[in-house]
Amino acid sequence: AGEVSFPNRGWVQCVYTLFTFSCPHILLYLLLCLIGCLLAHPQCLDYGPPFQPPFHLEFCSAYENFGCCDQERDNSIAAKYWDIMDYIDPREHKLCGTYIKDILCQECSPYAAHLYDAENPRTPLRNLPGLCFDYCSEFHSSCHSAISLLTSDRHIQECCETNKTRFCDLLHLHDEDYCFPNVLKNTALNHNLGSVVEDHKGCLQLCLTEVANGLRNPVLMVHANDHTHRMFIAEQVGVIWVYLPDGSRLEEPFLDIRSLVLATPWLGDERGFLGMAFHPKYKDNSKFYIYYSYMDKNRVEKIRISELKVLASDANKADPRSERNLLELEEPAANHNGGQLHFGVDGYMYLFTGDGGKAGDPFGTFGNAQNKSTFLGKVLRIDVDGRSSDGKPYRIPPDNPFVSDPKARPEVYAYGVRNMWRCAVDRGDPVTKKGRGRIFCGDVGQNRFEEVDVIVKGGNYGWRAKEGFECYDTRLCHNSSLDDILPIFAYGRSVGKSVTGGFVYRGCESPNLNGLYIFGDFMNGRLMALQEDEKRNKWQKQDICIGSTKTCAFPRMISSYSKFIISFAEDEAGELYFLSTSYPSAYAPHGSLYKFIDPARRAPPGKCKYKPIPVKTKSKRILFVPRAKTVLELLNEPSTTKPLKKTSTPTAATPAAASQKGKKTPSTKIKASTAKPAPSGKKRQKIKAEAKPHKPKQEEKVARLDRTTPASPLPKNKSSHLTRTKKLLPKKAALGKEKQERRKKGRLSSSS
Ligand SMILES: *[C@@H]1O[C@H](CO)[C@@H](O)[C@H](O)[C@H]1NC(C)=O
Ligand SMILES: *[C@@H]1O[C@H](CO)[C@@H](O)[C@H](O)[C@H]1NC(C)=O
Ligand SMILES: *[C@@H]1O[C@H](CO)[C@@H](O)[C@H](O)[C@H]1NC(C)=O
Ligand SMILES: *[C@@H]1O[C@H](CO)[C@@H](O)[C@H](O)[C@H]1NC(C)=O
Repeated sequence: AGEVSFPNRGWVQCVYTLFTFSCPHILLYLLLCLIGCLLAHPQCLDYGPPFQPPFHLEFCSAYENFGCCDQERDNSIAAKYWDIMDYIDPREHKLCGTYIKDILCQECSPYAAHLYDAENPRTPLRNLPGLCFDYCSEFHSSCHSAISLLTSDRHIQECCETNKTRFCDLLHLHDEDYCFPNVLKNTALNHNLGSVVEDHKGCLQLCLTEVANGLRNPVLMVHANDHTHRMFIAEQVGVIWVYLPDGSRLEEPFLDIRSLVLATPWLGDERGFLGMAFHPKYKDNSKFYIYYSYMDKNRVEKIRISELKVLASDANKADPRSERNLLELEEPAANHNGGQLHFGVDGYMYLFTGDGGKAGDPFGTFGNAQNKSTFLGKVLRIDVDGRSSDGKPYRIPPDNPFVSDPKARPEVYAYGVRNMWRCAVDRGDPVTKKGRGRIFCGDVGQNRFEEVDVIVKGGNYGWRAKEGFECYDTRLCHNSSLDDILPIFAYGRSVGKSVTGGFVYRGCESPNLNGLYIFGDFMNGRLMALQEDEKRNKWQKQDICIGSTKTCAFPRMISSYSKFIISFAEDEAGELYFLSTSYPSAYAPHGSLYKFIDPARRAPPGKCKYKPIPVKTKSKRILFVPRAKTVLELLNEPSTTKPLKKTSTPTAATPAAASQKGKKTPSTKIKASTAKPAPSGKKRQKIKAEAKPHKPKQEEKVARLDRTTPASPLPKNKSSHLTRTKKLLPKKAALGKEKQERRKKGRLSSSS
């Protein structure tokens, strides 16, 4: 036991020295399990979730559908098995062979981390997996001579080869549910094993890692699709930062147009830098596009959409002098500025404008959104690669739906939009490509309903005739020519107040999430998922719960997030993120970027590997320093009874804590219907302010946030356990390589 070390756990040492057990493992294992057993979830010895091996497992075939071994690991376990079998009395081969195989294969169990006490990187691994008492006794009775072949731990060899009780006490797991072979029979543990975990209310249990922080109202994150895997994060004030694949940020911004962008520190001001997209052929033409608020010389507030280029001399710097204006729209009010900008799979640029602001779309006879001769309240589609004969700096795609309607702007692609805040293009199923090109949007509602729409060409999304599925303007609503497209999902005030559109997950690392549309609510921090039910042509909503200490006890996972969800994002590889802040003022540096992780299943090893093309960087790299506490840090805290209390300050909250706390934070007084990217709060406006301005008490918050926590413990070297198990092999069993090779083939079939 002397070799077992307990960092930061003086009390264990203390108890340990008090009891001079001749076999002190028992006590230690009991104590370890008391800690370890709090973290019941499928987990591998490398501290990650299990996976489906990409290839058939020859030896530990029980785990070939779901477990912790790939073919390579399986082969090395088989080799070890044959090494051991060389030393087993031929008369015991048949009986002991089965036990030895089962024991060796526990490394491949989806519960391997439980079986070896490896849930927590800070606890030492067991030499042998936890065995249930009956099974252990049978093994000991029949094959105790194999013990010294299975472990090199001299203590176990000495104390236990002849004493069954002591041996089986030693291999006893505090939580009987997890011992082998009971763990396989436990229906509670194995029900839906490998699927996304749902709590008793059906809430999907996902986890997050913190990827970036200290951002001022981060409105978006995009990538350039140039294989560099850089991430560009824009702040509402008009600054864009470059993040490298190693997690660091370049000190010099990609673009800083704060002097052009109209933004204020007023809590909830919706104006500012709002959208950005790289040209689909960015690699060849260095072009990208931006969407921002500004004030012209006559103090008229406008939206400007323009094209810029990246400097030829530095791929991490835009050339601010390259700006070419494409489109300007006058904004009659400060709220509802839209702001989404992206390219469709057709190569055209889609722009999503707001209805012009105020409340109830009061402009003109029937509002802007239903008026196809205005740019406001629309989805616009233009071709940035051409010019119009009438002098426009872009071309109208010839198949735009209203090109031949003299009363409509030819740019209009869809209408009846209130204030779509965040739309995304579905990449489609990674294999079948099904769903590719669909455009999903969150359209922020007025007083009653938030909606999620799938955009189709020429579609009327109903506003202001309708809000969600219901009539808003009764007269317009009952007009038979409305012919509107209903949302795929709408929710009322009991669920949230201001939708933030998300993405359909199409990444690689969390295969369970494929096809889920993940989005959220800006006001209460709620995260939700829509799953398509193709048979019934419906989308089913499920809530997403984040950071349960039970399911997210993996390294680097965090248990809380800042609750004002501003935007969702996809990286170049398709992994899903969101950006949120604890204080939605454009100048408050309280925004963070989080990445979603499914703790129930990961992709098989090697599947999601990519090699980013390196970019030359001229500016200094600022290393990422996490601020949120990880689940493991919380679990290791002395007062593990109240770990969540500590982080549910106004700066970060679990969803549950967030909704309770929400009432007290000043910003939730703001009415959300117009609230994008932050609830409107402009005092000087004539409109009935749908928000109450609130002066940020910055110092106080900053002080809280700057308390950085120590970096989470690194996962133990992936190979360390494997190295260790190798060492477990007694010297006499270590065979020459050729011998192993010879055996692998010849004998595998006879073993199972
Ligand atoms: C075997 O171990 C048990 C418990 O550790 C102990 O009580 C018992 O005396 C041991 N038996 C022998 C024969 O050493
Ligand atoms: C539609 O919008 C245009 C441009 O703003 C405006 O001139 C016109 O009066 C509006 N039509 C109606 C019916 O409100
Ligand atoms: C119904 O809508 C159409 C098209 O917007 C319009 O021309 C017509 O006047 C409306 N009818 C009524 C009764 O409002
Ligand atoms: C992991 O283990 C390998 C081999 O034992 C070693 O070379 C490497 O430095 C280790 N890495 C870390 C991060 O400990």
